[in-house]
Amino acid sequence: MKEWGEIAVPSNWTMAGLFDKPVYTNVKMPFENNPPMVPEENPTGVYRTTFRAPKEWKGRRVVIHVGGAESYLELYLNGRLIGMGKDTRLPSEFDLTRAVDFKGVNTLVCKVIRWSDSSYIEDQDQWWMAGIYRSVYLYATSPAYLEDVFSLGDYDRETGSGTVSVKVHLGFDFESYRNKECINGTSGPTEDFEVRCELCNAAGKKVWSAAAKIDWSFRKDYYRAELTGRLRRVQPWSSEAPTLYSLTTELYTASGELLDCRRAKVGFRRVEMVGRDLRINGERVIIRGVNRHEHDSRTGKTLSLESMVQDICMMKRFNFNAVRTCHYPDDHRWYDLCDEYGLYVLDEANFEAHDNYTNICRDPRWKTAIVARAERMVLRDRSHACIIGWSLGNESGSGENHQAEAAAVRALDDSRIIHHEGEIKDLWSQGHHCYFDADKSFNAFVNPMYPTLEDILTYARDRRADRPVIPCEYAHAMGNSSGSLGDYWDLFWNEPGIQGGFIWDWVDQGIWTKDQNGVEFLGYGGDFGEKSHDFDFCCNGMISPDREPHPAMYEFLHLTGPVKVELLNTKKFRFKAANRRNFTSLADLAGLWEVQRNGRTVQKGKLALAAAPGESEVFTLPVKPFEIGPEDEVFVNFRFVLKKATPYAEAGWELANDQCDITGAFKRAAAPAEPAGTAAPAVTGTKQGWIIAAGDTVLKLAKNGDGTVEYGGKTVLESLPECNIFRACTDNDGIRGWDGQEHKPMGLWLKAGLDRLKRTASSCRVENSGNAAVATIEREFAGSDKKAPIRFTEKITVGGDGVVRFDCSYEIAEALPTLPRVGVSFLTAPGFEELEYFGRGPFENYIDRNRAAFVGRYATTVAETYVDYILPQENGNRTDVREFSLAGGGAVLEVKALDRFEFGVSHYTAADLFGAFHRKDLKARPETVVTIDRRQRGLGTGSCGPQTRPEYEVSEKSYTLSFSLKIKK
Ligand code: GAL
Ligand code: MG
Repeated sequence: MKEWGEIAVPSNWTMAGLFDKPVYTNVKMPFENNPPMVPEENPTGVYRTTFRAPKEWKGRRVVIHVGGAESYLELYLNGRLIGMGKDTRLPSEFDLTRAVDFKGVNTLVCKVIRWSDSSYIEDQDQWWMAGIYRSVYLYATSPAYLEDVFSLGDYDRETGSGTVSVKVHLGFDFESYRNKECINGTSGPTEDFEVRCELCNAAGKKVWSAAAKIDWSFRKDYYRAELTGRLRRVQPWSSEAPTLYSLTTELYTASGELLDCRRAKVGFRRVEMVGRDLRINGERVIIRGVNRHEHDSRTGKTLSLESMVQDICMMKRFNFNAVRTCHYPDDHRWYDLCDEYGLYVLDEANFEAHDNYTNICRDPRWKTAIVARAERMVLRDRSHACIIGWSLGNESGSGENHQAEAAAVRALDDSRIIHHEGEIKDLWSQGHHCYFDADKSFNAFVNPMYPTLEDILTYARDRRADRPVIPCEYAHAMGNSSGSLGDYWDLFWNEPGIQGGFIWDWVDQGIWTKDQNGVEFLGYGGDFGEKSHDFDFCCNGMISPDREPHPAMYEFLHLTGPVKVELLNTKKFRFKAANRRNFTSLADLAGLWEVQRNGRTVQKGKLALAAAPGESEVFTLPVKPFEIGPEDEVFVNFRFVLKKATPYAEAGWELANDQCDITGAFKRAAAPAEPAGTAAPAVTGTKQGWIIAAGDTVLKLAKNGDGTVEYGGKTVLESLPECNIFRACTDNDGIRGWDGQEHKPMGLWLKAGLDRLKRTASSCRVENSGNAAVATIEREFAGSDKKAPIRFTEKITVGGDGVVRFDCSYEIAEALPTLPRVGVSFLTAPGFEELEYFGRGPFENYIDRNRAAFVGRYATTVAETYVDYILPQENGNRTDVREFSLAGGGAVLEVKALDRFEFGVSHYTAADLFGAFHRKDLKARPETVVTIDRRQRGLGTGSCGPQTRPEYEVSEKSYTLSFSLKIKK
């Protein structure tokens, strides 16, 4: 045996670069699935430390708190076994009173075993880790102490009054109270106690106090006390205005000696189901929720307070109002933060038996463990205002053990709703669509995972619908995803009976690690030597492992903002603004508007809104009319920013935004006269092909139509726009590291050979036409099926003024599947790095995820458009583009759409991205790869859930695309 090593507590030993590594599996057990057996070889950590107990603790009750150990914990003090703990995600506390040595040094040993029978009911889709990963501390109490203080605030919206209830349970050290005289035949205190409560409002003013006696005689009250206070007027708690009161609960002896004290925050609020609505403080609150795993890219399951604060601030900044603690109770500090910052919590018990879906939920041998998980969660967390519901776990079917769990939860707290994911699973999943044969007694809402729009609509519009639809998971955010988020939100805002949902999920579970060369990279399943794993399926976050928001976050912010502006009358500049909040005004927001002509601001002003919660107001903007050119477009942008800093964001943070097209309000100037004709470009036939010269712009064409474009003697386009069909498949197109993707778009594209299309024919002819030179290139491409070609024609018209126009057309064989994209791509010479464009931005957008991306004029760089999804894939696209320019390579390339297109610029080709499994495998090309698409397939969320909707596919059989290129100094 080697020397003892050192390890930090809390930490996951699997993150310490030792012998034992993280393992990622989704459903599969990481060892032979044979419940409740565990493998012979079972990584075990023996932790040993020493401490001296403070002298003052003598005669007191000494307790050790272990915040979380994965998965089986055994604790020894001074060689004595004290106890064991089996729930990885909840603290275990052990009474050390009789084992502590107050004179000498105490040796504490914790044995943690990685795999246990618990593993079978902790089979969540996340990293399997190991070790003591939450804090450990010692504390001492008097022999009689406050075992439990359950405090809760209730709010009555009608009267504005509140009720605070405090239920206290006295605990005592058995030995200290062993009755020598054996009064009543048992042990226990033979004296009275007093409990005193005091409640102060946020300003620190006392608003209520009360005292109650705990009468020991005949143990009348079972060592319990209940205090209730009614307050005529309270400030309610909600996610919008999370007002908290401070409660102090003190335990005194009969003679007035203070024994114990607890502090808690109390929020006055009410959660109830009314009709088929989930109501909070009487209001139908739309759930803008997200699922959050506890994950840190460097420390695994050990989270710092800073990281939790960072998460909650980001959630609030992006308008999330709810979180599901998927799929287990979180670090206790998370709930304090949710109380304080205002986030509705669906608190989930640590029970998932995904790989034993149908049996463990019914197996009586597991009942105690499962029930205990829910009970211990409720006991720990029930005083938090933020918790609106208890969730019985995840993906474990639905059985008697769930029934028992629900009953246990209800017995401990009936003031919240119960959510049970598995309750409707048989009805909705795997092709079943039967909506009504369900049991709402232990599942308050209809919570299908990853439903289609049609499915939830069908349910909600049926007369029999008796619960709201709130998907506990939807919009699977894996990689470049969140397609149709806007379509879901159209339903969430407008459909009675559909009340929001929880996005899957918050953070990509990537882990920083090193390759053989010492290069750091973000790893996922398989990067830690796991034999069986689920690849990058753990990276489904709205934010990166390092907490960079993915572009979809801005889409979410826009869709869920507190203000929604609608255009009522273009000519009169009349608009309607709705306050989408439930409880608060918009007084904290400064409204700004700006009128942009072709993306450039020409007028702007401020806007103060006064609509009450849930109300709308109509306003007129004082826009001064002006005349616009024949092609001009005018938009007005609204932004609503925080006037003052809040706990979660700085002053000026934008919480809501909207854009309206007001071009119709302006008078157009007459089109200018056609410019005088220029001389035709010079066309020279050469041995290889043609040279077409128009001033400084020179096109060199080979006989087969390949070519370059030079400007002032230097190559600026290393290749001409070429038919481009493939994209680096997104995770939604197909999971690159998985088998069984044949039926997914990626599978179909690879089968059709779209990733390796071959040019089977190519011809080019050049002729003069009026004062232009026209090159016509005709090509045919084929993948695996030679009889299913794509015919591509590109007409290149070079004007004497050097403007080059491209008219492309595509004829697509019937047999080909719906395509990734239809467009062209070309390479510029190195250096074309500066990008400016007029289209949707500033961030990446796709046809089914572009509502937040306003039409505007944006300046950025090619490198900056790259979106670093953990698995390299298609990224950086822009839709509804009118024009763009690239500069920096010794000239400026100006590309104008003749009919709006989509485009992207990158230092990688689709093949580069598709061939790479991590960012580190990519080598940036010095050239700029430009893609221009008539249309690119939308994103959908097909990695887990509905594929791209048909309206966002590329399934026509013929397309055209036209744009022009002008090169200048
Ligand atoms: C759900 C499950 C999550 C996660 C997700 C896919 O069915 O509840 O834990 O596995 O699918 O990312
Ligand atoms: Mg699962």
